[in-house]
Amino acid sequence: MAMSRKSTEELQRYLLDGRSAIDDALDRALPSLGSTPPALHEAMRYTLLSPGKRLRGIVVLATCDLARGSREVALGPACAVEMVHAASLILDDLPCMDDATLRRGQTVLHKVSGEANAILAAVALLNAAFERIATTPGLRDRARRELTQQLAAAIGADGLIGGQLVDLESTGRRLDLERLEYIHSHKTGALFTAAAELGMLVGGARPREVEALRRYAKNLGLAFQITDDLLDYSGDPETTGKDAGLDRDKTTFVDLCGIDGARRLVDDLIDAAATALQPFGRKGRILASLAEFVRGRDR
Ligand code: IPE
Ligand code: IPE
Ligand code: MG
Ligand code: MG
Ligand code: MG
Repeated sequence: MAMSRKSTEELQRYLLDGRSAIDDALDRALPSLGSTPPALHEAMRYTLLSPGKRLRGIVVLATCDLARGSREVALGPACAVEMVHAASLILDDLPCMDDATLRRGQTVLHKVSGEANAILAAVALLNAAFERIATTPGLRDRARRELTQQLAAAIGADGLIGGQLVDLESTGRRLDLERLEYIHSHKTGALFTAAAELGMLVGGARPREVEALRRYAKNLGLAFQITDDLLDYSGDPETTGKDAGLDRDKTTFVDLCGIDGARRLVDDLIDAAATALQPFGRKGRILASLAEFVRGRDR
């Protein structure tokens, strides 16, 4: 469904505001450049503060907004999710994984800092993420515990890391749709779902809202990785800021369904995400526009 001009403008404003609030908070969350050891802080900042879309952080803010929670408090978990995401990108780009050259429009971290420092920066970012959750003011003990648990589960063996491992061990093999969906929903979907869970925890969403927003995030996360497959196949590195064609030796949704089939699947998933928002009426419109953004994204 094409978005109206008003919805597009509203979303653009929301994305711009969200991105700039998250960028500022990320900058404040890390020790300043020149802190000891300088090489580590330079490496952490290099990827974390480079121009990402901050979509996962924005999902935290938008789900918290929907549940009428505090934006100020949600910024802590939003930063934590973006730190985890940046760590996953650093590791994913290493020669032993995707062997990338370009990330967020700049040379990948390990080619600038060396592999050892890149790995250490990724591990430090993961730890900084949990420190954010531990130190975010304004959270009740129970919410803080649940935020920690949700984020840890999303990263772990039954989340991003599990999905990433199966992605790597499947390189060069023909997969079926079920296996590929497992990979995508774990390596990428899990962090989108966690982002929504974190926003809902901060906002204090009710059980019925939680159910609906989980369905939204699950569909959005899978759609996001299928559009990523499409962009690896036919995206422009000038626009995406990263290499194209790195999935050559992998089975992707483009391989299994063709370009049109993959697009149809994205359409179905984004429609399902929008349907999950229906009970919220107008209150769900930012998340609905965000899903439309994912459907049409070129970066
Ligand atoms: C890239 O994510 C990694 C995937 C899971 C596909 P994004 O496309 O959100 O990357 P940034 O954060 O905007 O750079
Ligand atoms: C990313 O999948 C999954 C991660 C956990 C980082 P990709 O390997 O397809 O992501 P890009 O294309 O390098 O951003
Ligand atoms: Mg990868
Ligand atoms: Mg990659
Ligand atoms: Mg990719």
